[in-house]
Amino acid sequence: MENIESIAKAMVKKGKGILAADESSGTMAKRLDAVKVPSTEQNRLNFRETLFTSQKIKDFISGVILYDETIKQTASNGKNIAKLLSDQGVIPGIKVDKGTKSLPLSNDEKITEGLDGLKERLVDYYKLGARFTKWRAVYNISKVYPSKMSIVANAHALARYAAIAQDTNMVPIVEPEVLMDGSHDINKCYDVTAAVLQECFNQLVIHKINLKGIVLKPNMILNGTESGKKNDTKEVAEKTYNCIKENVSHDVPGIAFLSGGQSEVEATENLNSINKINTTNFSFTFSYGRALQQSALKTWAKNIADKKTVQTVFDLRSEMNSLATLGKWKVDLEKKAA
Ligand code: 13P
Repeated sequence: MENIESIAKAMVKKGKGILAADESSGTMAKRLDAVKVPSTEQNRLNFRETLFTSQKIKDFISGVILYDETIKQTASNGKNIAKLLSDQGVIPGIKVDKGTKSLPLSNDEKITEGLDGLKERLVDYYKLGARFTKWRAVYNISKVYPSKMSIVANAHALARYAAIAQDTNMVPIVEPEVLMDGSHDINKCYDVTAAVLQECFNQLVIHKINLKGIVLKPNMILNGTESGKKNDTKEVAEKTYNCIKENVSHDVPGIAFLSGGQSEVEATENLNSINKINTTNFSFTFSYGRALQQSALKTWAKNIADKKTVQTVFDLRSEMNSLATLGKWKVDLEKKAA
């Protein structure tokens, strides 16, 4: 039977991961602008439907996070998008936060909004076929940030959201994202991420969340993009693995990382390195947006009508990441495919 614990387990099943195709229309406009395609409702659907009908999506993708617009759209075969996915054994999910606003009384920090009316929206999304949800909080690192206020306020909102999701029989993806931007080093990223995760779990417990029925979507532990330091995959894997092991309840079935601006191959390699050292019961997988879609989007923009080529590119990225969930990816496989 369908319950949140079994859905959460299925989302992080070994060999599979999540496609984050839940870019808001604003973010999608930026992505399409970059490849010089007009961001119309039809084009957004066309690209997404191309991915959702790829030959191998059912083999490597456990679930897809949709955006409000997409879950209400109809595919060219007449099915609604959630049904198109679930008919292939891919679980439909939905982004339910309403984006970030400035955090009052703290310059340059963000708070995620969307709790008002959330219960009613989730009931509607459930009827449309969604079985899991996503809410993203963001934290920036600088000499003074993130503040205690941002850490507590965002964790509180994440926990309130998670409670409403579980109360609607949907799995909450809890996404506290510590951004890569900044001149900080990898150790600072570790410390900040540890503090953020600790407060998230503190709030999740206060809000009576069933931790076996969530999926955590954290950042990996990396040097800041303006630090001038290169990331070594072994170091990234050890620090990320330790940070999760030390600060996340072991009741959580799986950790599905965001890619956060890493290149496609970097995101795959780091996930692979983490799985090579994993001796915990956590399933470490992916919930990538850019790192699954970037090459596919560029290919699509060259010839929107050539769905087959776009799907081959997307299936290859999914397959590489599937191998990374098993610690069986090798760089040679990328070269061979190229
Ligand atoms: P990226 O993998 O591109 O970071 O996107 C994942 C996501 O869902 C961000 O909220």
